[in-house]
Amino acid sequence: MALRLGDEAPNFTAVTTEGEINFHQWLGNGWGILFSHPADFTPVCTTELGMVARMKGEFEKRNVKCIAVSVDPVASHHGWIKDINETQSCTVNYPIIADPDRKVASLYDMIHPNADATFTVRSVFIIGPDKKIKLTLTYPASTGRNFMELLRVIDSLQLTAVFKVATPANWESGQDCIITPAVKDAEISALFPKGARHVKPYLRYTPQPNR
Ligand code: BEZ
Repeated sequence: MALRLGDEAPNFTAVTTEGEINFHQWLGNGWGILFSHPADFTPVCTTELGMVARMKGEFEKRNVKCIAVSVDPVASHHGWIKDINETQSCTVNYPIIADPDRKVASLYDMIHPNADATFTVRSVFIIGPDKKIKLTLTYPASTGRNFMELLRVIDSLQLTAVFKVATPANWESGQDCIITPAVKDAEISALFPKGARHVKPYLRYTPQPNR
């Protein structure tokens, strides 16, 4: 069955370009992003892996580790990394899992047979420090992902894990947040000292509490 939000991220051991890992141990106490690629030496994947390498500092600031997976063997990954570094002005600075037996792809349901019988789709799993799945995304092979959107989601996930807020459409860090419906009006001044704007009884905004 497909993994759903709130499920524990399945653990596994795997060979990666940075050595063998136990996934949960590798995650440690921080956040993680596991993302799959259809195959090595493919153009869209090359740009995606380069983008993540160039954005590593932004993920690190948020205590997020990134790890990619592709069904090709590790020797192929090492050859491909040379091309990624050469063409994408980067140094790949995070592990790529070698998954030739499709162990990880099966655990995370990354092969969608009606899309492609052999290769993984572009899956993303954001995993919290509790090892629970916080977000899943599935893109087709033909569409490269927007990794800025993943940073935006991480900002929302980390904020809403601590404060009783949700984030509205197209929210970016620094913008007003929505007070969650469970918060009573009488609680607002204590919980949100920066104030609140009441648009409807169920639609109440407050400045981002941790800014
Ligand atoms: C790519 O990464 O460019 C790609 C991979 C599989 C199918 C189509 C594109």
